[in-house]
Amino acid sequence: MGDIKTSIEKVHAAAVDEFAAAGDESSLESVRVRYLGRKGRVRDLMGTLGTLSPEERPEAGRLINDLKSRIARLHDEKSAALGASAGGEKPSPETLDVTLPGTPVRLGRIHPIARAAREIVRIFAGMGFSAVYGPEVETVHNNFECLNMPLDHPSRDAFETFFVRDRSDVVLRSHTSPVQIRAMLASKPPLRIVVPGRTYRPDTVDATHSFMFDQIEGLAVGTDVTMADLKFCLNEFGKAYFGPEVTTRFRPHFFPFTEPSAEMDVSCIFCGGKGCRVCGNGWIEVLGCGMVHPNVLRAVNYDPEEYTGFAFGMGIERLSMIKHQINDLRLFFENDIRFLSQF
Ligand code: DAH
Repeated sequence: MGDIKTSIEKVHAAAVDEFAAAGDESSLESVRVRYLGRKGRVRDLMGTLGTLSPEERPEAGRLINDLKSRIARLHDEKSAALGASAGGEKPSPETLDVTLPGTPVRLGRIHPIARAAREIVRIFAGMGFSAVYGPEVETVHNNFECLNMPLDHPSRDAFETFFVRDRSDVVLRSHTSPVQIRAMLASKPPLRIVVPGRTYRPDTVDATHSFMFDQIEGLAVGTDVTMADLKFCLNEFGKAYFGPEVTTRFRPHFFPFTEPSAEMDVSCIFCGGKGCRVCGNGWIEVLGCGMVHPNVLRAVNYDPEEYTGFAFGMGIERLSMIKHQINDLRLFFENDIRFLSQF
């Protein structure tokens, strides 16, 4: 019995060494056959059982079976180690066709709103305006008070939007106009800026409204800025954005931060101004504008006796919808690739 125990441990020790030395799948396989195969060393030991006494046999058989599973474990561990270092199972040369085309990478593109914003900024850049940006979280002071919209002003109703909890002085901006204030506080006149950015309103979402949309604000301030400058710049813009055949008209309107104020229409780009289903009467409203209110200039310590300015604001989605005949604002925000890839 002592002899067979010694033999078992010898075989095990040799197996440990040989499995450790196996450097690839095929040498591992030959080690496996040498120990666990039909004519392997474990089988040889089984063959010696017959030489033992009947009392010794069961215990020796159990030890040999035990050896068999220890060696099988050595094999499995080594096999896993070789597989891992080879980076998993290697494809055979027949299954790897290097001439197959790869998985195509879909090219992204600029979102239509970002594209329109860039286009509009570029048009105004040609007239000496530079693009500036402001925060979407704004002070109530900049968003309302400095723009001549005091707390009791009725036009605040449609603009009172998303407030920050416990901070009644902070709001998601309801228009890009507060950036006028920031820009004027940051520099002395003359100044010509455009401001693209997101704005927020307490509006229910439908085909023409959203709680979030994009605007471009404009502001020009100097010593001799007049309404003629306003009309010239915005007329140029109308032609550059919608087409050279487009004409513009200005209708009196009201905005708290401008005086006088106007809304600008462009002649309908679909019927040429004759009147159609899109425009009704031949005109399409595109933006609000006016001469900067003296109270706004005072709020930033510009002397209204010395400086005048004009300002304007437009919705980017709206302009884009007109130009591309898009009938639902929500399409811009749904991220449907079939819609977005048309631009
Ligand atoms: N802030 C206005 C709005 O969101 C748009 C606007 C109108 C901006 C006239 C202006 C302006 O600068 O002069 O409805």
